[in-house]
Amino acid sequence: MTTPDANGTRPDALDASKPNVARAYDFLLGGKDNFAADRELAERLLAIYPATRQMVRENRRFLVRALDYVLAQAISGYLDLGAGLPTSPAVHEIVRRQDNSAAVTYVDNDPVVINHLWALTCSADSRVEAVAADLAHPATVLGQVRETGLIDLAEPVCLILAMVLHFQPAPAARDLVAAYVDDLAPGSYVILTVGRGEPAIGDQITKTYDAATLYNHTPEDVASFFPGLDLVPPGVCDARAWMPGWITPAPFYDRAGQVLAGVGVKK
Ligand SMILES: C[S@@+](CC[C@H](N)C(=O)[O-])C[C@H]1O[C@@H](n2cnc3c(N)ncnc32)[C@H](O)[C@@H]1O
Repeated sequence: MTTPDANGTRPDALDASKPNVARAYDFLLGGKDNFAADRELAERLLAIYPATRQMVRENRRFLVRALDYVLAQAISGYLDLGAGLPTSPAVHEIVRRQDNSAAVTYVDNDPVVINHLWALTCSADSRVEAVAADLAHPATVLGQVRETGLIDLAEPVCLILAMVLHFQPAPAARDLVAAYVDDLAPGSYVILTVGRGEPAIGDQITKTYDAATLYNHTPEDVASFFPGLDLVPPGVCDARAWMPGWITPAPFYDRAGQVLAGVGVKK
């Protein structure tokens, strides 16, 4: 992956001959915004682990449950880092089912993602913004978000980091979340998911994935990505098992690959 330019976007992101993170993910989700190279990468992943397609859907279903929970806490600003190409239900669609005026800001370092978000969502809803930035630079990202004037970061907000921290080494992921949380108002929520697998599968996937460097975090690593946050029950667990209000994770069948998910709140 090339270095982000001054705007935080990747100049290589328009090259259709190479697999791309957002577009390969779009294919796994059943979307149409992808090229042959993206589909070929996704097919290689599916050949190693067919349940990869289920995992990305489980992530989205978890997001619906987690966002419904946070919306019920009367949070009115949603900041989605590593937003991805528009899909359904998108974060702003989930939010709009309960709140007509909540602000949603999408952040991504892929210019194609930002252009799609602008064309398909921001143009239709004045309370939705898209910002091109590299989430690895929290001060810059939050500065750009403040500049839009849409989300009031002095008030409690919800930060979403879904299926993106497996593109950061564990210590960097931990430090990044800590830096964002440090700048958020007390009462803010963090919704976070990470895709991972038992070594027999996860290591093959990380070696095969060539759209970016992929890290196969351990469950202990993922649990450490909530620094300074109180975990909303049932805590960090398989996305299939996260049900708001459940003290322990809901029963589910064990599998080699999983999306680990959790919701934290800053006290
Ligand atoms: C696997 S997709 C996940 C999309 C969405 N969050 C979801 O859960 O469905 C990861 C997204 O994160 C973006 N991304 C990866 N690294 C990033 C970074 N350092 N800064 C901003 N966006 C990043 C990619 O461009 C892609 O759109």
